Amino acid sequence: MPKEIRLNAFMMNCVGGHLAPGQWRHGHGRASDYLDPDYWSGLATLLERGRFDALFLGDVLGVYDVYGDAPAAAFSAGAQSPMNDPFPLVMVMAGVTSHLGFGITASSTYEAPYVLARRFTTLDHLTRGRIAWNIVTSYLQSGARSLGQTALQAHDNRYDRADECLDICYQLWEKSWDDDAVDGAPGAAHYADPSRIRPVRYEGRYLNSEGVFQSEPSPQRTPVLFQAGGSARGTAFAARHAECVFVGAPTLAGLKKSVTQIRAAVQAAGRAPDSVVIFAMFTVIVDADRDTALARLAAYQASADHAGAAALLAGWTGVDLSRYAPDDTLDYVDTDAGQSALASFSKLDPSKQWTVRDALDYVAIGGRGPVIAGGPVDVADALQDWIAQTDIDGFNLACVEAPRTFADIVEFLVPELQRRGVYKTEYAAGTFRQKLFDGRAWIATDHRAHLIEPHFKAGVDA
Ligand SMILES: Cc1cc2nc3c(=O)[nH]c(=O)nc-3n(C[C@H](O)[C@H](O)[C@H](O)COP(=O)(O)O)c2cc1C
Repeated sequence: MPKEIRLNAFMMNCVGGHLAPGQWRHGHGRASDYLDPDYWSGLATLLERGRFDALFLGDVLGVYDVYGDAPAAAFSAGAQSPMNDPFPLVMVMAGVTSHLGFGITASSTYEAPYVLARRFTTLDHLTRGRIAWNIVTSYLQSGARSLGQTALQAHDNRYDRADECLDICYQLWEKSWDDDAVDGAPGAAHYADPSRIRPVRYEGRYLNSEGVFQSEPSPQRTPVLFQAGGSARGTAFAARHAECVFVGAPTLAGLKKSVTQIRAAVQAAGRAPDSVVIFAMFTVIVDADRDTALARLAAYQASADHAGAAALLAGWTGVDLSRYAPDDTLDYVDTDAGQSALASFSKLDPSKQWTVRDALDYVAIGGRGPVIAGGPVDVADALQDWIAQTDIDGFNLACVEAPRTFADIVEFLVPELQRRGVYKTEYAAGTFRQKLFDGRAWIATDHRAHLIEPHFKAGVDA
């Protein structure tokens, strides 16, 4: 029995496709449609019609100014610049859907855990349990300075802080309130029974928190946890915290290696290796027939904005690509930005050597993920083959033209996958976690969020 394929749509609150810089120039709508709530409610309705598991909203704090030491290329291309906050979009889209999940990116480096925990809990209530958190540690120096720091904190220290941020959130979400703390029935003595609510305490190297959580438990308590950083430290973090991992790797060998490393790290952390759902970054251009799809991809490639792609890749890697010649090879160097971004074009798959030109051609359409173009049968075959060869569970699909790329997927690809019996025709009942994990309502009992003590001192109880 082939695996059921999971699909998320991958967007940011910015112009067009955030991994296809400049392609808004093709669009039939206005490039600034992303400022219009109708654009987002229309997208959500479309995705739910296509039975997508979730809309995964990336986010970045700071501007892409590594390339050429200025944000010019990013703003000209509209490459994730300008960028708005993802959180408010959810309430626009939740109102017109009832099953679609929402993965929201938020930075453990800059957000106070108490504030963040309350914001996620609020949204989880208001969406009846459809929220996931994509935990990121942030990679832009510009973001660090804009948020009042003198420089970006060291790469591994950001993950250490993220561990602490999560441990505080777990205490607030899982330990501060008992399941039956709230009554609130007419005539009840208490709305919330004070004897069933307790303060939690955490003392860490970076973060402290002490007190009662302000919000009552939401349908999922802890939102579904995504993570998306593939460095050695990032993978260790994923093994400890992630329920779903988002991988960006440009080659089959690289993706396979990443998946193997993640599942081994999850097992080493004492959790079932297959309990983590792994999504790969992909872009799909599909149409009624192969030639039409290939012609469209060729048109996108012909008008690719390489300066915009360079602005993105330089931001992700921390390497100013304006100092390189197009035929220079990309070699791995440790930086304090995202380490897995540069690794994916160098040491992850040593069988392929990337020049700067190759990498920019690649990134210009679909970022760090492969692009599949063809008719419905071609694309379905290819996706099933990637799953069989790499052991991923599904795809976070980026778009080139928004919302057209997703409309084509819903019209052409989804029926083909359904016909093959590898994609749902109806949503399962319940919260996002229940849909993803066979009806399980709460975080798994082997997960740290379940196991953690309500009073916790980092380094002593860790
Ligand atoms: C597929 C993928 C998607 C990501 N999306 C975001 C994002 O939306 N916002 C962000 O700040 N970081 C994002 N990141 C960056 C990571 O979450 C992480 O903070 C960064 O890559 C540094 O970690 P690493 O060195 O372990 O890769 C993404 C990374 C990957 C691999």
